[in-house]
Amino acid sequence: MRVRKVEQKKRRKRTTNRPGVGDTPHRALNRPVDSSVKGFNVSGMKNIMVTGGAGFVGSNLALALQEKFPDARLVVVDDFRSGDFRNLQGYRGDFIAADVSRLDWFNRFGGQKFDAIFHEASITDTTVHDQLLQAHDNIEGFRRLLAFAEPTRTPVIYASSAATYGITTGRMKETQAPAPANIYAFTKVQLDNLAHDYSRRDPDWRIVGVRYFNVYGPREAHKKAAASMIYQLYRQMKEGRRPRVFRSGEQRRDFVYVKDVVALTLRALAAPRSAIYNCGSGQPVSFNEVITELNRNLGTRLEPEYFENPYAHFYQSHTEADLTLARRELNYKPQFPPATGIADYVGILEGRQAI
Ligand SMILES: NC(=O)c1ccc[n+]([C@@H]2O[C@H](COP(=O)([O-])OP(=O)(O)OC[C@H]3O[C@@H](n4cnc5c(N)ncnc54)[C@H](O)[C@@H]3O)[C@@H](O)[C@H]2O)c1
Repeated sequence: MRVRKVEQKKRRKRTTNRPGVGDTPHRALNRPVDSSVKGFNVSGMKNIMVTGGAGFVGSNLALALQEKFPDARLVVVDDFRSGDFRNLQGYRGDFIAADVSRLDWFNRFGGQKFDAIFHEASITDTTVHDQLLQAHDNIEGFRRLLAFAEPTRTPVIYASSAATYGITTGRMKETQAPAPANIYAFTKVQLDNLAHDYSRRDPDWRIVGVRYFNVYGPREAHKKAAASMIYQLYRQMKEGRRPRVFRSGEQRRDFVYVKDVVALTLRALAAPRSAIYNCGSGQPVSFNEVITELNRNLGTRLEPEYFENPYAHFYQSHTEADLTLARRELNYKPQFPPATGIADYVGILEGRQAI
């Protein structure tokens, strides 16, 4: 117990010594994206598409793009299968209600030239086991999007996932062989393969994958059981219940705050080449530690209640992003280590601060 306390103290010290901690939450977003990179005229962005923009990450991204490029035309494409219009409160752009895997892209957007397409649309519930549905909608959606973007070499930034790494230990590096443990992860590997294939055929066309780890933050409530563990635990504790976690709560996850995710996804616009970049906090924390932080921020003292993991056969008990590449090529510096991100998020959930 004492050893764990000393470890936690050390970790807190490391955390608060990190560069960038103490920045205002929006600083990462407001830092200008390098517009001098060949192939990207970032400052001249006029027409931008976000698929999956009614979802968690997509809506945060669409609203950040609106703030960053107030004169640009924004188009969100979403079929609401897991998104919610309430996430887009304050959004002033266009909205196309359509399934990206069945949409006739050329017919719908034929004459239009986008400056960038951010692809967030995907079935995101990893417990959906319908292999045909997951594979069709996730893979064919991306294939159609790439076929549409190819003639104009429209830069594409798409959401990959740490699920592609499968069940491993230690830091996960982009060069590691994929090992998908479920159909969702398999479809994400296929997205990476497609991106690799297209960009190899045309090296001047930028297709950038951002490999998200466990994202948490505002605008995820609609995901219900598929929302982050941080949100689930917060809800339980808020209702005065003991937070329920898989036995023994020592599974470690790289939880990354959505504000850092948006910042890195925007930075991917200025990527020097087509590539995949890990997007995590780089600091995995256990579920027990998350509960400690939530107790601290809520002023509660609720003890965890452990139960057996029904998904143990494909569950990632350890995720940890190696951020070397994102730091080097995108100048990514996470602004929200777990303790800072959880504090910011609880502040928003509790209505003590704006998003
Ligand atoms: N949240 C995470 O922790 C996490 C981790 C790794 C990767 N990702 C990836 O990030 C992206 C965003 O995830 P999220 O957490 O915001 O999930 P989300 O479920 O909130 O958002 C996905 C959105 O895509 C829409 N959508 C799904 N399939 C579609 C289709 N065929 N056509 C049109 N719209 C469709 C949904 O309605 C939803 O609004 C996804 O690609 C997901 O796989 C998320």
